[in-house]
Amino acid sequence: MAILRPEQPGDEPEIAAIHVAAFEDASEAELVARLRMSEVWVPELSLVVQQEEQLVAHALLSQVVAGESEALVLGPIAILPDHQRGGLGTALVRMGLERARALKYECVIAIGPGDFLAACGFRPARGRGLTIEMDVPDANFCVAELAPMGVTPGPVLFPQEWSE
Ligand SMILES: CC(C)(COP(=O)(O)OP(=O)(O)OC[C@H]1O[C@@H](n2cnc3c(N)ncnc32)[C@H](O)[C@@H]1OP(=O)(O)O)[C@@H](O)C(=O)NCCC(=O)NCCS
Repeated sequence: MAILRPEQPGDEPEIAAIHVAAFEDASEAELVARLRMSEVWVPELSLVVQQEEQLVAHALLSQVVAGESEALVLGPIAILPDHQRGGLGTALVRMGLERARALKYECVIAIGPGDFLAACGFRPARGRGLTIEMDVPDANFCVAELAPMGVTPGPVLFPQEWSE
């Protein structure tokens, strides 16, 4: 049985291992560690999927500047390779969006596979007046609106933790 829950103290090494396995690289695990130490970290929005005693998926939403909105950014997100394409990623993101809405955030930015983000309820962000200083196709730069008028035009600016 899969349990979706917020990260708890002691989960950190297993979360890092999920990102290393999914991305075949430590950079996303290191990004999670930097964000965990930063002011943009929202403890309730670092979410894991637990199956039996094992963590198999992790998704993070943290604060970001996006126009004038109370905004979050989704990522990194990773599912262990042998658990991918089974619906866990979509379920985890949808839970993240519900929790973010309950915390009164107005929108969530994401950069990633367009088909996956569309399946999670995201839509292209440039069509909503958001801009980004990154060479990313329209379909891969997305936003999920959590409140009426929740998306406001303007630049998306990532905190320095994303570029270290
Ligand atoms: C991308 C990822 C998070 C998706 O999670 P998942 O649990 O495998 O995805 P789901 O089973 O919920 O997928 C739902 C739908 O999203 C789409 N989708 C999933 N992964 C996709 C990918 N890598 N590229 C494009 N579309 C994808 C598909 O339409 C899929 O439906 P289908 O399986 O019926 O075709 C996961 O595969 C992963 O960890 N990949 C490696 C790390 C990564 O790329 N992270 C960045 C994502 S923003």
